[in-house]
Amino acid sequence: MRYVALGRMPAKRHAQFREDGRLLVEEVMGYEGFSGNESILYHLSSPCRIAGVGELRRQVREEWVPEAHVHRLADANAIEPGGGPVSGRRLLMFNDDLEISIAKPTEPSTGFYRNGEGDEVVYVHRGGGVLRTVFGNVPFGAKDYLVIPRGTTHAFELDGSEQFWICFHTPGEIETPSRYRNRYGQLLEHAPFSQRDFRPPAELECHDEAGAYQLTVRIRGASQEYVLDRHPFDVVGWDGYVYPYAFNAADFEPRVGRFHLPPPAHQTFQGQGFVICTFAPRPLDFDPEAVPLPYHHSNIQSEEVMFYAEGDYAARRGVEAGCITLHPSGLPHGPQPGTVEKALGAARTDELAVMWDTFRPLKLTPLWQAHDQPDYAYSWNPDHVPAGATRPVSSPSEILAASP
Ligand SMILES: [Fe+2]
Repeated sequence: MRYVALGRMPAKRHAQFREDGRLLVEEVMGYEGFSGNESILYHLSSPCRIAGVGELRRQVREEWVPEAHVHRLADANAIEPGGGPVSGRRLLMFNDDLEISIAKPTEPSTGFYRNGEGDEVVYVHRGGGVLRTVFGNVPFGAKDYLVIPRGTTHAFELDGSEQFWICFHTPGEIETPSRYRNRYGQLLEHAPFSQRDFRPPAELECHDEAGAYQLTVRIRGASQEYVLDRHPFDVVGWDGYVYPYAFNAADFEPRVGRFHLPPPAHQTFQGQGFVICTFAPRPLDFDPEAVPLPYHHSNIQSEEVMFYAEGDYAARRGVEAGCITLHPSGLPHGPQPGTVEKALGAARTDELAVMWDTFRPLKLTPLWQAHDQPDYAYSWNPDHVPAGATRPVSSPSEILAASP
């Protein structure tokens, strides 16, 4: 992160700061006690002030336990839109390091939201609007990653277009990969993005208003409702290293090798127990003998999940934009039959995909179950006859019995 300052603040920290004779309220918001990154905000009123305490609603993470451990495909296009930017999120998969939800909000935020127990990333596959926050406004559009640090009070304004988001929540921190930062934190020359590509709030929204404002805080696996009698966006200025920002996948500078580069070349974010990668449109491996698709790999210590955002993903058959594949640990995976031969000699790819790999197993939810496409597990076998076709799929015992 880089240092950002917006609005008005005193020359010295922790000094009296008055506007029109009014003593403002200084708030330090920081990670790791007082040892991590922090920002200092100057409020018109105390951010502790509440007018009412509402309901505490437990969040239930319902799990679907599949009967078989196989590679899976789900078509997220078929997920029904609805709800608000936070209330409309529908959990797709999770473990103790990461929750992934799909949101297709059709209604604006009701009140304000703050995640009190995790950092969030929202990948905007389709849609746009303004992320309004206590740090100021971040306009966003398609292909943006919105990174929202815990503790950020915010609300989404939607632009009226169709919205289709992938929402990540982690109890850890969302960071750029350590290997792309020097010892001072600045992104290195060979990083696939630079500080200029990150769009922090550029415009502060400061309200000196009384009223009734609903605030929902996610905490302890629950949602706690509060009513505020002062507008929560009452910051006249802030500075520091903690703030929400947008990064557009089109600003990811892809890396290309003479021969195929593995997924870490596409890494965009790191978190505790997971990575998020951007497979951006790019020239392909340029040696005349290169195989321009991934080699088969056994991800023996991770789960690989890929969201196909745009273009033709050459290594996959029958996978469209808006689909998600899950290649779980314990099973090798690679390009499907025929795709390698077809790709030989190709000079570039127009694919755009977002991948998240977790190091601990992912649990699926009934939302995945509802959109699961079980034939995908057989898609590496050209002799497979899909379920519902004239010849039924043989059971393992029938296949064994028929073999010599
Ligand atoms: Fe893979």
